Amino acid sequence: MTKTIGILTAGSDSPGLNATIRGLGKAVMGTLGMKLLGFVDGFQGLVENKTVEIMGADLSGILTDGGTFLGTSRDSIQKYPLNDGSVADRTDQAIETYQKHKLDALVCLGGHETQIAANHLNQKGLNIICIPKSITNNIPHTDTSVGFDTALGVATEAIDRLHSTAHSHHRIMIVEIMGRHAGWLTLGAGISGGADAILIPEIAYDPKIVAQAINDRRNSGKRFSIIAVSENAMSLDYVEFFEHSRKMNERLRSGDEQTKIAQELSRIENQIQGNTLLLADRLHTFTGLDTRITILGHLLRGGAPSAADRLLATQFGTACVELLQKKQYGVMIAMQGGKTLPVPLEQVAGKIKQIPLDHPWVIGAKRVGTVFGD
Ligand code: F6P
Repeated sequence: MTKTIGILTAGSDSPGLNATIRGLGKAVMGTLGMKLLGFVDGFQGLVENKTVEIMGADLSGILTDGGTFLGTSRDSIQKYPLNDGSVADRTDQAIETYQKHKLDALVCLGGHETQIAANHLNQKGLNIICIPKSITNNIPHTDTSVGFDTALGVATEAIDRLHSTAHSHHRIMIVEIMGRHAGWLTLGAGISGGADAILIPEIAYDPKIVAQAINDRRNSGKRFSIIAVSENAMSLDYVEFFEHSRKMNERLRSGDEQTKIAQELSRIENQIQGNTLLLADRLHTFTGLDTRITILGHLLRGGAPSAADRLLATQFGTACVELLQKKQYGVMIAMQGGKTLPVPLEQVAGKIKQIPLDHPWVIGAKRVGTVFGD
């Protein structure tokens, strides 16, 4: 009987997902003579048995297509959204679907949350292989992930474009870049775009230090500045405020009341976090210069993958074949030093790759005079 490999794309989409499906599909069908069964809309397709058999013709012409033709969702297997707004664990249904289709293995393309779900299914005895996808490059044990290079190019081009309007109007241009938990995309684009300040989640910034750098630039005749800020970067005073409030809550309250206050603090913190509007207001106050904000948002996730992402996608997709031949499961395919290799899922799941403060990119940026507000 022909062996069947399942595939799904879960979590936020990114450029390069279709290229990865193509790489995997052509290799699995061509080299291994296996069938490829797609699950529609991420883990939703696995829970609700929504499938599409992927044929050779489906893989033609998708190398340059952005997004994912399988569709995706953020639905979690263990906290599966129900119509009444509640959630439930749908692991059994997912396993039932896997067994119903007599899958030999399931390949999951996704980011942080996907790795957690994949590891969970692996621990339940399913044959799981993961391929890292993240425009923010926050997945550990891999140098890069599908979508990062493309998003880096989009963000860099945006910063390039903002230079001309910044110096024409003598303004502070603030560009907000995706990356909730880690600032790789902001750091990379900030350096390659020549931003004057780079504000990332890993470094709580002092707006006064950023303003001083802007004033120094103006005093040296450069009457504009470009600030690259991650969507979840936070200023030092707010970091300290929330730390202090949590400590006080733990000391002064207990039980339900303590939990209620803790949840309220997290809700407010999420609102404040990445409050680029607040940053713009403060920089205007401290410098007197006009500020304008550009939020790149989902532009970073759209469009055709870069050449590097198509290369990476094809390498990841085809590297799956070796693992399938060796029946090596419970792993994520990583890229390390230009080579693909398997990494146990339990080493990846639930972890975030943040920027070490002594990372060469940070050191290099500081050496060319870029400020981080620290
Ligand atoms: O996780 C990647 C990401 O792009 C984040 O940077 C961003 O905050 C989030 O997804 C947006 O999610 P959604 O597309 O569901 O609005």
